[in-house]
Amino acid sequence: MRQTITQISLTRPDDWHLHVRDGAAMAAVIGHTAKQFARAIIMPNLTPPVTSTAQAEAYHERILQALPQDSDFQPLMTLYLTDTTNPGEITRAKNSGVVFAVKLYPAGATTNSASGVTQIQKTYPALAAMEAHGIPLLVHGEVTDPAVDVFDREQVFIEQQLAPLAAQFPNLKIVFEHITTRDAVNFVLEAGANIAATITPQHILLNRNALLVGGIHPHNYCLPVLKREPHRQALLGAATSGNPKFFLGTDSAPHRRGAKESACGCAGIYSAHAALEFYAMAFEQAAALDKLEGFASHFGADFYGLPRNTDNVTLQRSEQTIPAELPFGDETLVPFFAGEVIPWTAQ
Ligand code: NCD
Ligand code: ZN
Repeated sequence: MRQTITQISLTRPDDWHLHVRDGAAMAAVIGHTAKQFARAIIMPNLTPPVTSTAQAEAYHERILQALPQDSDFQPLMTLYLTDTTNPGEITRAKNSGVVFAVKLYPAGATTNSASGVTQIQKTYPALAAMEAHGIPLLVHGEVTDPAVDVFDREQVFIEQQLAPLAAQFPNLKIVFEHITTRDAVNFVLEAGANIAATITPQHILLNRNALLVGGIHPHNYCLPVLKREPHRQALLGAATSGNPKFFLGTDSAPHRRGAKESACGCAGIYSAHAALEFYAMAFEQAAALDKLEGFASHFGADFYGLPRNTDNVTLQRSEQTIPAELPFGDETLVPFFAGEVIPWTAQ
């Protein structure tokens, strides 16, 4: 019989896809990430969006100010790609030392994406500069065509947008963010070493039943939306395969409680309070806890060409109860697994 694992020690992980918002909201959430992770790729979908290096530098400074005093957490900034991002801005980003990637939101695809890209061809000059400078393009991979079913939007994006884009820029580093389908797993597996993907905890722990069975569960609503069980299994298989093309990106995306529990609820799941524990739950389900370190702590850094962290974190098999609510500026948010007992605790 297999022995129960009671403790795992890992190289300190990084979060390669994170939303921390700004102001009082940021001050309320940043400590959770800084406690577990050494670095995180910070999403630029603020209002207004972070479209210039100057804005990214200012946002970087605000994040450092909001950190707990003894923290050496490093925010890795991104630019928000628009139809008019020019190659000069990419050069400035490269030279800044604080910007590590550029994010493509198809206009209208998700929270604060109204200024996103309307036609991918318009961004070709910026993409050519990114390819030349080795700056990764981070892709929210969903089409926005109202005629396409929301559950098919990732798959259609691959065919219509991502495959042609990858062919046009064969040396561009691309991270297909928060993948949710078997189709995305297969695309990444078949692509060159320049194409990788992040996987969230929710997409390997839950399928779409968690959204809709027994009532509507707004706190399990995120984009891309949860998919059918075979897709979850494909994602869990990819995450636990040991293939370095798949690495950790929580997409932790806090919204105030009222914005989620609403007639038109916002997309986004907050998982930063116990991110590593959630991944451990999924990896254990696949009997693959030995694959967690590569996924969480090595492969992302390797893909971005950054050094791996040198200190460690420990996961104990020790139950914790997730609070029903957490403070969020003047309001509260409802975290992932709110009110439930989970088996792991990170230290
Ligand atoms: C994100 C957010 O709230 O900023 N929401 C989400 O559902 N993931 C945006 C995004 O990453 O799509
Ligand atoms: Zn996101």
